[in-house]
Amino acid sequence: MALATKTFQVTIRNSGQTITCAADRTILQAAVAAGVDYPYVCATGNCATCISKLEEGKVSLLPHSDAALGQAQLKSGLTLACRARPRSDVTINWLARRAS
Ligand code: FES
Repeated sequence: MALATKTFQVTIRNSGQTITCAADRTILQAAVAAGVDYPYVCATGNCATCISKLEEGKVSLLPHSDAALGQAQLKSGLTLACRARPRSDVTINWLARRAS
């Protein structure tokens, strides 16, 4: 129960914003709620659009497709913002290139 109310600071390097994310929400949910234009499509761990480099901190990952994030990518510090719930303060950097 304590975990559900716990919040962490998430710094998004691409936009320079720091947002608050509850331990029971994904980084993507918190980012979208805060108005951050975080790249995503499926929000269910299947498309890899939200793939990001976890620069600092720890996250807990919800189930996701291996095609979206494989073991080697995980080991190299990548994560999926739509599946990642913070377990500490986090700094993250999305890798998607925006069409503009
Ligand atoms: S938005 Fe599709 S994997 Fe995260």
